[in-house]
Formats: sequence, structure tokens, C-alpha cells
Amino acid sequence: MLKEMTQPVAQERAMDQEGDFLKINAMDHVELWVGNARQAVYYWKVWGFKPVAYSGLETKNRRYASYVLEQGKIRLVLSTPYSPHDEMAAHHLLHGDGVKVIAMQVDSVEDAYRETTTRGAKGVQSPTEMRDDNGIVRTASIQGYGQTLFKFVERADYAGKFLPGYKSLAEDKTVKPVGLAAIDHIVGNVELGKMNYWVNWFHQVLGFRQIVHYDDKVIHTEYSALMSKVMGDGSGRIKFPINEPAEGRKKSQIEEYLDYNVGPGVQHLALITGDIIGTVRELKQRGLEFLRVPDAYYQSLPARVGKIQESYDDIAELGILADRDDEGYLLQIFSRPIQDRPTMFLEIIQRHGARGFGVGNFKALFESIEIEQAKRGNL
Ligand code: FE2
Repeated sequence: MLKEMTQPVAQERAMDQEGDFLKINAMDHVELWVGNARQAVYYWKVWGFKPVAYSGLETKNRRYASYVLEQGKIRLVLSTPYSPHDEMAAHHLLHGDGVKVIAMQVDSVEDAYRETTTRGAKGVQSPTEMRDDNGIVRTASIQGYGQTLFKFVERADYAGKFLPGYKSLAEDKTVKPVGLAAIDHIVGNVELGKMNYWVNWFHQVLGFRQIVHYDDKVIHTEYSALMSKVMGDGSGRIKFPINEPAEGRKKSQIEEYLDYNVGPGVQHLALITGDIIGTVRELKQRGLEFLRVPDAYYQSLPARVGKIQESYDDIAELGILADRDDEGYLLQIFSRPIQDRPTMFLEIIQRHGARGFGVGNFKALFESIEIEQAKRGNL
């Protein structure tokens, strides 16, 4: 069983002793279970994602419809059940639209499943082989936070678009990508008091290491607070920050998420762009909405962040946030929730050397989240 360690010192010592027993080659895909996948496809097309593969009644999948969308190296899957009696329908009733599966590519699913389950992961799907004319794919999954699954995918022997059972779609020429290139990080919200459990889970089960820790003295506003720790894999490319609500005078945004998602889950996906000005300008023209911090933020920004390649006028006009650390700077912006429940949202991020998460923006950002929270009557 997974041991819960509460002593940070013990945790760090244990982290030094562990080897990299689980090599993750890349993110494979993120699957969202949604109420109406066909319509959701149109929403994600606005974000520049192209539908490339489909599974459903027409491909003899009588259980659910599923669409695979791609942009850059990002692959999203949107799935919806046909029957109200399906487990997927019960899941959607409880949580609404959101991330169900975080899938990572490994060399051997067999090894990944064995290594993680012997280290305390709860197995959900033991290694399974699927094949069609394009070859073989192996997958397995373990239970992550809330009802989220972490899936391992081995696709070296597969030439198809996604998985057996999915057919390729003709190119959708109506979709114009906006420069989103890869997933930078995936953030999970967990219940009060559960952050260290999940930090240890990522460490013990997946062999990840803690990269950063922000406590509630750093991340707080007048009303609410949260704590955040960031876990990363051996390569440092795959990052999973974990948030926990902290006691504040009013309701933490993490608590609001937990209430509306009915439990822990993925709070946001951060997507990398090489040109945040172009990406955000285009997305706003397409009608997507982003959080906006008070204008005062931009008065002090050049003094705080210093010289950057982009124009501060563009940054202020578009509502982009900037932050600097020892290694460089980053630019970021956060969308409004992707559904009516105030749960999951997206971040767009551009990195110029900085490897952090924009801690200098947290306060301004959370104040703007609280303005929205108050409008919803949840603060
Ligand atoms: Fe983020």
C-alpha cells in the first residue's frame, strides 16, 4: 500500500534514493468525457484543434462516440456514451465535462503497469493488447486523483492515427491551428489535507520528483489561499502541479472546483505556444474568453519583469500575464472555464527560459478569479 509520509525531510531523502524506474517518452493524449462529444468538437475546433479520427456506431463501437483532435503535439480525445446506463453517463452526471484519462507513452506497458502497481498504484485496466490492420497498441491504466485515470500507451508497433477501433477522418480544412504546440503541465486539484498524499503517490508510484513548492503564504489573497506542489518526471518535461485549498476568510477557488466537480480532478491543462501574442489575439477574435486582471497590474509590470521581446502594449491589450525568475521569463493567460460548472479551464503559456509557473502572477490572478467567483455567488 502507498505509505503516507508527512515529514518533508523523509520525503526528500526517499526521493534521492529512488531511481527512474518509469521512463515516460511523451504525453500520448488527454481524454475528456463530455455530455455531447459531437458538439464539443466544435468548441475545440475554435481552439485550433483538428479532428483526425473517430470511433462510434459507424465503426461498430456501440458503447460510445469518440473523436480524436490534434494540434501540434497535443492530442485530445472527446468521448460520450450512447446509453444512460453506461458508467460514462454516471461519470458525466456527477462531474460534468472534464478530463478522465491522462495517457503517457512508454516503451513497455507491461513494465509500466508492473512497476507502478507493485509500488502501490491501484490497477484499473491490466495490460491489454488491441490490434487492427495498422498494427498493435498496448495500454493499461491506474487510478489517479478523484476518478482520473493515468494510462500507459505503447504504440511503437502501430501505424494508425490513434487506436484500433478508430477510423481516420478526412482533413478538416475549416480548422485553422493557432500555434498551440504541446502540453506544458497538467494541474490537479485535490481535497484539503490530501496534497502530500498525492505528492507521495507521484513520487512512489511514478518515480516523479518534486520540482517546486508554493505554500499558502505565497499564494493568497485577502480572502482565500491555496498550496501547490509541482511534480515532474525524470526528464523534467512532464509536469503535474497539485493544488490543495488552504484556510482563508472565504471560499478558496480550489474548494469551489471541488464542490462543482464533486471531488478531485484536473483543474487546467497548460498549452505551450511559441507566439502567445499571435495565439491569444486569434483566439480572442474567435470569441474565446480569458480572465483579465485589473489594469493596475500593467502599470507595475515593466518594472517587475524588465525587458522582454514582446511589446508591453500588446501584453496589456490582450490581458496576458508575465513573470520572471532566475532563468528567464514566461508569458501566460488563463481561459474562463470550458463548461458552465466552474471547473476545468485552459492556460496558454510561452516560455523564454523560465521554468516556473508564474508565481509572481498568482495574487493578481486569484483576485481576478475571485471577482468571477463572487459573480457566481461562491465567494
Ligand atoms: Fe498552470
